[in-house]
Amino acid sequence: MLEKFERYPLTFGPTPIEKLSRLSEHLAGNVEIYAKREDCNSGLAFGGNKIRKLEYIVPDAIATNADTLVTIGGVQSNHTRQVAAVAAKLGMKCRLVQEGWVPFEDAVYDRVGNILMSRVMGAEVELVAEGFDIGIRESWKRALEDVKAKGGKPYAIPAGASVHKYGGLGYVGFAEEVRVQETQMGIKFDYIVVCTVTGSTHAGMLVGFAKDGRARNVIGIDASGTPKQTKAQVLDIAQKTADLVELRQDITADDVVLEEDYAYPCYGVPSNETNEPKPGPVGVGLVTIVSEVCRRFGCHVECRLRCGREPGGHGGRVSS
Ligand SMILES: Cc1ncc(COP(=O)(O)O)c(C=O)c1O
Repeated sequence: MLEKFERYPLTFGPTPIEKLSRLSEHLAGNVEIYAKREDCNSGLAFGGNKIRKLEYIVPDAIATNADTLVTIGGVQSNHTRQVAAVAAKLGMKCRLVQEGWVPFEDAVYDRVGNILMSRVMGAEVELVAEGFDIGIRESWKRALEDVKAKGGKPYAIPAGASVHKYGGLGYVGFAEEVRVQETQMGIKFDYIVVCTVTGSTHAGMLVGFAKDGRARNVIGIDASGTPKQTKAQVLDIAQKTADLVELRQDITADDVVLEEDYAYPCYGVPSNETNEPKPGPVGVGLVTIVSEVCRRFGCHVECRLRCGREPGGHGGRVSS
């Protein structure tokens, strides 16, 4: 589906798919859970889902002769850390707008973790006191203008690398990769469960899996807390990406399956359930990024344990 698009390699290659045997057993049912280890996808500053998207965006940045990648996210955004790493790899400058998307009271919140790594990698970080919003932000537009005013050549990467003409392609590639791995493993996943915030991870998967009739088997777990906006953004990106890859199938609102019940209390703040010690001996679970992947992972477990159903409805194999 992606042959005609240029890709700048930033990942190690296909990510492993690991069976979570003890968790599947722990859930004592007919569900088998696998994790596709996107957390291990690259050597660039711990990698993550944005690196896969950036592989299809970087060729455009290079073609425009940009010298500065300009993007935006919350203070502890994974996305901004990954853009900073990619800029360093390319020898470009990086300007990051970090908004106060998460009401998290911690004295060192803006000095540790992702934002610390971005600073160490040489990014210029600007803290902006604005709340959560996945849309196009004035602060980001101002940063782009500021880079220009100072004689730089900015390249615009929106939040999560999502609302970008090539933002959905990386996760179309993910679906192609899963299909190859399914053949090698001799299995086929019934559901693919993903965390959804700015939308292009979900949208790309939806388009990629639409090719073999599984668009609605991609279950997004909303972590934004603004599901209406997120769902509309997934649909928009999916439709544009489908055109771009010449899918020749209509993508409609019904194709966007989004579980809205797990984003409490709000974006980026873990729920009490997330913070609770987990049942069972060590090794049954998987350590995930608090409140994003964790919500999606918690959804598997909760659907199974509390509601006696799989995410999306029926039994089967689930990849996450
Ligand atoms: C680890 C992780 N998974 C999933 C997501 C959601 O991806 P997207 O913003 O493409 O919806 C994010 C970021 O928001 C993330 O950091």
